[in-house]
Amino acid sequence: NDLYAVVGNPISHSKSPRIHSLFACQTGEAMEYTAIQAPLDDFPGTVRQFFERGGKGLNVTVPFKEEAWKLADRRTERAEKAGAANTLYLDVDGVLTADNTDGCGIVRDLVSNHGVRLGSARVLVLGAGGAVRGVLGPILAERPMVLTIANRTVARAEALVELFTPVAGAARLSACGFEQPREPFDLIINGTSASLQGDLPPLSPGVIGEQTVVYDMMYSLQTTTFNQWALDQGAKTVYDGLGMLVEQAAESFRIWRGVSPETAPVIEELRND
Ligand code: ATR
Repeated sequence: NDLYAVVGNPISHSKSPRIHSLFACQTGEAMEYTAIQAPLDDFPGTVRQFFERGGKGLNVTVPFKEEAWKLADRRTERAEKAGAANTLYLDVDGVLTADNTDGCGIVRDLVSNHGVRLGSARVLVLGAGGAVRGVLGPILAERPMVLTIANRTVARAEALVELFTPVAGAARLSACGFEQPREPFDLIINGTSASLQGDLPPLSPGVIGEQTVVYDMMYSLQTTTFNQWALDQGAKTVYDGLGMLVEQAAESFRIWRGVSPETAPVIEELRND
């Protein structure tokens, strides 16, 4: 069986082994998928060893995505812009190649699974860290009308605006602090890690209207803190990041195996775990 794995630290809570074995089962692909905890100071050694032993592909998670990007000798266009990689494999010529499927994952979950329209939409993105940088390119490719990046540290949001202006097309791309936007948006995406500290970005309730859809890139069994806040302000619908997690995995699977698994049954299965 061909061998795949997810590498992170810590790694024990990763859903990736479960997701990929469901994909393998569904598609009949002969593969094995495990979890590897890399030492914080030797991610490169872990990757090298994995491929030397015949491993076919890796997913990379916290905190190694930037390191994976740097380590690769070749990057796909979307990985290049994302500045981080969640997928590694040896290309046909044996070159260690990095891709990033996170942006593709969130767009597919929004558009295909939830029927959210990104084209011409007014979108507010919260956060300006690696998670947000990873998804901005694919979101902009859907041609929103407005894309506002709000962050606690405004300078980081401004840096992302500068970086993504060349691919923004007609979208009005801008940066600001959390308190600044006061008009309702069509879609608000929470890409901050604030909820890990039990915090809520101090947004104006004015950003939530009756038609506002909210997407928290985090996912948890209960409604996330951010999504609960949005519901309390009268948001139309809230989604968490479970679908994104499964969709990014499906895109990695497709890159490695050339087969696109069906995601809906897998999302359902994980929701019921
Ligand atoms: P990630 O890979 O998850 O994006 P990161 O690069 O450390 O991790 O970025 C974390 C993001 O969450 C940043 O936008 C951060 O804001 P700053 O740029 O101002 O640091 C945001 N964040 C983290 N904790 C937060 C909190 N308690 N309140 C609001 N925003 C927070």
